[in-house]
Amino acid sequence: MKHKNKVVFVTGAAQGMGLAVAKKFVSEGASVVAVDINLEAVETATAALGENVLALACDISDSLSVRSVMDKIEERYGRLDVVVNNAGVGSVDAFLDTPDEHWQRVIGVNLTGTFFCCREGGRLMHKNGGGAIINISSTAAVSGEGPSHYCAAKAGVMGLTRSIARELAPSGVRVNTIVPGPTNTPMMADIPDEWTNQMIAGIPLGRMGEPDEIASVASFLASDESSFITGQNIAANGGMAFL
Ligand SMILES: NC(=O)c1ccc[n+]([C@@H]2O[C@H](COP(=O)([O-])OP(=O)(O)OC[C@H]3O[C@@H](n4cnc5c(N)ncnc54)[C@H](O)[C@@H]3O)[C@@H](O)[C@H]2O)c1
Repeated sequence: MKHKNKVVFVTGAAQGMGLAVAKKFVSEGASVVAVDINLEAVETATAALGENVLALACDISDSLSVRSVMDKIEERYGRLDVVVNNAGVGSVDAFLDTPDEHWQRVIGVNLTGTFFCCREGGRLMHKNGGGAIINISSTAAVSGEGPSHYCAAKAGVMGLTRSIARELAPSGVRVNTIVPGPTNTPMMADIPDEWTNQMIAGIPLGRMGEPDEIASVASFLASDESSFITGQNIAANGGMAFL
């Protein structure tokens, strides 16, 4: 029960890694506020997890939506210990044909949304006197193997993490980035088999990651076992890239 009595906020918790993260923290004793842009999906997905999960609607790309959830957290629990910024979106666009709206959406959710949750969650943690923020980037940010908006947003998450890790350290808040490689989630299910097989061929461990394997890293980074780690990129990618 590593996270007993902690309050944990997880974004994009209706499926994939976000749902695995929510499950992991509940199993380790936390109260989890599981948010997603799709309320019905997050309610259904977390229904079996019991009364330690509060499923709420939140569009992380809208600062008012994020603020309103944080207000609810403060009212209900009076504190916040962990933020896991997992929600993300992709879009398949060749660079020269990238429409403005696709650029704005991918940056708006993956980077600006992460910023809103860090800022609003960070304010609550500052009041508590400590906490942990875990942001999710992607190996694509380092390899460049992905659409421009996605790679730019995920590289931006790393810079954001480093800056706020320095600034929030005196408040006892640690901030780190998990950098997953290809992971077996609904996001990957949309990709043609041929591409998936090509990706797997480049992974020394010979398979995609599982969402639970990312959740374990999040749990570690939120725990006292990582008490001297802040501002870092932690890769979980089967050895496909070295940061
Ligand atoms: N799956 C992979 O191979 C992989 C690899 C590297 C990084 N990542 C990153 O890991 C994270 C999780 O990926 P996944 O594969 O589980 O994704 P997924 O698409 O399976 O799930 C993402 C969830 O985020 C929610 N979401 C989307 N926009 C939102 C918004 N504006 N506000 C709140 N919720 C929103 C979706 O409704 C969905 O439930 C993402 O940030 C993704 O970019 C994934």
